[in-house]
Amino acid sequence: MKVALASDHGGVNIRKEIASLMDELGIEYQDFGCECEGSVDYPDYALPVAEKVASGKFDRGILICGTGIGMSIAANKVKGIRCALVHDTFSAKATRAHNDTNMLTMGERVIGPGLAREIAKIWLTEEFEGGRHATRLGKISEYEQK
Ligand code: RB5
Repeated sequence: MKVALASDHGGVNIRKEIASLMDELGIEYQDFGCECEGSVDYPDYALPVAEKVASGKFDRGILICGTGIGMSIAANKVKGIRCALVHDTFSAKATRAHNDTNMLTMGERVIGPGLAREIAKIWLTEEFEGGRHATRLGKISEYEQK
């Protein structure tokens, strides 16, 4: 699995935490920044990362901002992206098992690094269950093709 990782200025610390988690888990990833001192615009990071996932260059994407909200709104505009904003471990498992999400966002102003690491670990390792969930996702993909 190859993961694209990025944050805005509001998510730098958790981004680094997730990078170190992926080092420990032996998961291949590329860190797309930001290398920011000041304030940047989250769509400038979310959209290119989402495109890399949608095109198949990367299998998954993880984005961190202050709340996780802006990053998730932007990522979900890209066709083929199923991005979940997650701040609890139950949802981390469910969104992989039921929604087959290919992108995850979290907010550094909402949760701490320990929980973010647990969420990311679950999300990176949990499998999609398929079956009725695949039927439901098919309906979303169908709508997306209109
Ligand atoms: C930046 O101040 C903040 O708006 C951003 O990190 C994010 O929370 C947006 O949704």
